[in-house]
Amino acid sequence: MLLWRASIPDEWLPKVLANLNEVLVDHCHLERKAATSALNLIKYPELTSYVRELNQIAQEELEHFGTIHALLDSRGITLGLPKASPWIGEMMRFIRKGRSEQVIDHLIAASLIEGRSCQKFQILAEALMDSEPDVSKMYADLVKSEGGHYAHFWLFACEINSQEAHRRLGDFLDLDAKLIRQSHNLPILH
Ligand SMILES: [Fe+2]
Ligand SMILES: [Fe+2]
Repeated sequence: MLLWRASIPDEWLPKVLANLNEVLVDHCHLERKAATSALNLIKYPELTSYVRELNQIAQEELEHFGTIHALLDSRGITLGLPKASPWIGEMMRFIRKGRSEQVIDHLIAASLIEGRSCQKFQILAEALMDSEPDVSKMYADLVKSEGGHYAHFWLFACEINSQEAHRRLGDFLDLDAKLIRQSHNLPILH
């Protein structure tokens, strides 16, 4: 579907590895938010024929939440408060209001969040293979599922209006490229 217009900065991985427990807390909250987001997409009449798929995605996200929460428990980490991600915040604020624009933008934002997560999980699965084999395996297991979500959201957007989805994808990829270069020191995944 897409070619990112910027790669993940080199400083991202060392920062995440140095703050792994806090990043796991953030990730746990992200899975909870992903479940809510999938359920929120059901509100759009344009997605009526995909209610079953969206419900399935929401259930998978809740399973991921449970898996990561169990991992936190096993490491003696409490869930704690969620932290806001500047990247996710900007991507969501980029969604236009208005009947037909909003659903396409919402699907593209959701798709790109899944896509970047998928990419980062692959990097983490590899980087943690020797030092944290359990966490590495969890990330490797998540890659397939999040990759499926990414594809689903994009295909739903294309089904609604392929031309507009492709045009708007370019705008979102430009925004992602701009934002991903703005590094921050927050101990979060995005
Ligand atoms: Fe997930
Ligand atoms: Fe997902």
